[in-house]
Amino acid sequence: MKRYGRITGWGKSVPERILTNHDLEEMVDTSDEWIVTRTGIRERRIAGPGETTATMSVAACQEALERAGVSAEEVDLIIIATSTPDYLCPPVSSMVQDQLGATRAGAFTLVAGCTGFVYGLVTAGQFIETGLYEKVLVVGVETLSAGVDWTDRTTCVLFGDGGAAVLVEASDQPTGILSSELGSDGSDWDALFCPGGGCANPFSEKVLHEREHYLRMDGRRIFKFATRKMTDSVTNVVKASGLSWDDIELIIPHQANSRIIELATRRLGVPPEKVMVNIDRYGNTSAASIPLALYDALEEGRLESGDHVVLVGFGAGLTWAAAVLHWQPEKVAVEPILVEDWPTLVNLFQPVTRVRNAVWSTQVAARAWLQDMALAALEPVDQLQRRLRDG
Ligand code: ACO
Repeated sequence: MKRYGRITGWGKSVPERILTNHDLEEMVDTSDEWIVTRTGIRERRIAGPGETTATMSVAACQEALERAGVSAEEVDLIIIATSTPDYLCPPVSSMVQDQLGATRAGAFTLVAGCTGFVYGLVTAGQFIETGLYEKVLVVGVETLSAGVDWTDRTTCVLFGDGGAAVLVEASDQPTGILSSELGSDGSDWDALFCPGGGCANPFSEKVLHEREHYLRMDGRRIFKFATRKMTDSVTNVVKASGLSWDDIELIIPHQANSRIIELATRRLGVPPEKVMVNIDRYGNTSAASIPLALYDALEEGRLESGDHVVLVGFGAGLTWAAAVLHWQPEKVAVEPILVEDWPTLVNLFQPVTRVRNAVWSTQVAARAWLQDMALAALEPVDQLQRRLRDG
């Protein structure tokens, strides 16, 4: 039987400390007006003492597990998408696995810039679809404040810290990732990079003196790349999902710049009310930005069971990734739910959602069956061709 990856839990963790644009005016030659009009950012969170990529990951995972009603010991795999681990060695994923008490879980860190969370989610989906794992935690998390040059106004106003996690569980009902695209164009690698500190230019007095351990960015080059790739990859995944644009309830783009989001979604013909934007609150949190926006969209009631949502990211590498998700977090109820306990409105909508989900599930199952039949019918032709080719 085909298996699907269902997101059943989500959690977030952002530092308490807020750094506003007005605070930045005191630090570098900038203004609230410049930052808001060029980027849409008003404030960002900055890690305080003791707050790191590992601590934020653990807190976000704990909330996700609690929401799903799953214990840490049940988790099979933890994928941490980040470019800002606590240490270069060991992988931060193992620290998170230990601090969570996920004693059975494998763990690895995935580095794909701001695109990391979507790369991680697609990877988790594959582990579940192949039948290898039942429960996978995927985290997007960054402590960018530690890697930003606070004297460089062209970068320090853009970034912030935070993390968010989802739990993906195996399901036999069609749901989860319907289509995806993972991309990379390394020819533009130097549009966003840390010149020093890696093996090509190890740490030295020169690296420190020339501030080469900090992020350098060619903003204009990324701007052009991002608008093009967002438009192309979203078009590709929506087409591959077999859905129409009307079926898409929400787009959750990487929150790097509100102008990039506006330009790309206008080109796609998607109205602003279908686009999630929370960059004003957090700035660019790289790998954390998409799961943080997903979390906030759920808090704001912008995503309901049965909806279809597009996630799209771009970032260092340069990389990009997009996926269409069927959002249906509730598992099949094991315990009977007492109807008199439900609020009246929920009571009214439950059957409608169920019917909608059932129709949708049937459609997907029928499509998968037709595809399997077509492949089976073509198999003899394929074999004949191979035999003729091999003589
Ligand atoms: N405050 C005031 N002025 C500034 C600031 C600042 N913080 N930063 C730059 N300026 C000045 C520049 O020096 C320049 O002045 P000049 O004309 O006298 O030379 C002027 O503002 C315009 O600079 P541009 O770089 O042309 O500004 P632009 O409109 O391109 O906006 C920005 C810059 C916001 C960085 C934009 O290019 C952008 O968002 N690019 C994409 C960046 C991105 O997405 N990065 C992350 C992707 S990957 C990841 O998320 C990790």
